[in-house]
Amino acid sequence: MIKDNHILLGVTGGIAAYKSVELLRLLKKAGADVHVVMTEAARHFVGRTTFEVLSENPVITDLWKDTGSSVAHIDVASLADGAVIAPATANCIAKLAQGLADDALTTTFLAVTSPILVCPSMNTDMYQNLRVQRNLDLLEQDGLHILDPDEGVLACKTVGAGRLPEPWFILDRITAMLNPKDLKGKRLLISAGPTREAIDPVRYISNHSSGRMGYAVAAAAEKRGGEVTLVSGPVDLAPPPGVGLISVETCDQMARAMLDELPRADIIIKVAAVADYRPVHQEELKIKKTVGQTQMTLSMTENTDILKKIGELKTDQQFLVGFAAETHDLEVHARMKMEKKNLDMIVANMVGGEDSGFQSRTNKVKIFSKDGNFRDVPLMEKTKVADIVLDTILGHLG
Ligand code: PMT
Repeated sequence: MIKDNHILLGVTGGIAAYKSVELLRLLKKAGADVHVVMTEAARHFVGRTTFEVLSENPVITDLWKDTGSSVAHIDVASLADGAVIAPATANCIAKLAQGLADDALTTTFLAVTSPILVCPSMNTDMYQNLRVQRNLDLLEQDGLHILDPDEGVLACKTVGAGRLPEPWFILDRITAMLNPKDLKGKRLLISAGPTREAIDPVRYISNHSSGRMGYAVAAAAEKRGGEVTLVSGPVDLAPPPGVGLISVETCDQMARAMLDELPRADIIIKVAAVADYRPVHQEELKIKKTVGQTQMTLSMTENTDILKKIGELKTDQQFLVGFAAETHDLEVHARMKMEKKNLDMIVANMVGGEDSGFQSRTNKVKIFSKDGNFRDVPLMEKTKVADIVLDTILGHLG
């Protein structure tokens, strides 16, 4: 959503202005054309030359001096596909809320018609002040997007809310803001990652799932306006912004979480790699190595097939998608799973290779639908596969 878009970056006078340099760099790296407008106060923190060099565009700081054109601020405002103010001071927020236009930044932003993301950053007491909160509410009512500040130690040594979120996170929120909201009003229940089945207090049975594929689907669905609940096994990934996360470990816990959430879901996508069996007994104490014993047998019992259970319970209004991880006969096994588990669609991928399936950043999938439709998706980033999976679901929902 960022590539080839024109983004207007507003910078106001807060200590966090240094982070907007990194935000600009990330926007450029993502392929955006960025125009920067700064307040006079922002120039006390970061020089305009830095923004000018990195953006490769003239920076507007003064309506009368900078640009050679008396309407340059209107030009950049009209050009913008999206706009962001990071950091946004209390003063700037108050002026925006009142529609004031007494400097280059507020005048320019008053002329912006594309979506605007405002990132407040200030001392905690200032941020929590009723007048600031009231102004933020007004901006939200006017349709501007507000990014809550992070909590932590601030420049003034206060600990609390007021830190500007990290630039990568702001970039993620700009992307979300610009994404078409074709999943608006839909509630998605998504599972991701592996499950772990304990053998004893220190050992477990699991698999290689990193959670990447499932997290990519959850993140993409949220950016497209869906209300997403992600039930996740243990992974090393940060939860996607805006997604409700339920962390679980075992198949039993995942089953309980999924079945609890099921009645509220419109679309269910089961990306998780669930252990089909678990040890019959979970030993309370660590199993010790016995001298002379060269083999040991572990008795296993079948786990609940969560997807199959959901397939039995789902209503006609719910759309159910499974994933199939195969090492051979991909199509045959995938179609069998779709049939047996009463799925509307199945996304099949080969596992065991380097660039698709478990762990990799990329995947190559075949999508089969109950109505006979088939889509062959070549190797690409899991984030892109996620969008294609969602496109295909929406295609079916009409
Ligand atoms: O997490 P990554 O490293 O990014 O890897 C992604 C992935 C390879 C895990 C993913 O793309 C994938 O293929 N997920 C499905 C893994 C799997 O368990 O496949 P399966 O063919 O064994 O199961 C079929 C379906 O039944 C799956 O939707 C699974 O969630 C579900 N299932 C399986 C067993 C069980 N007890 N309960 C289930 O719900």
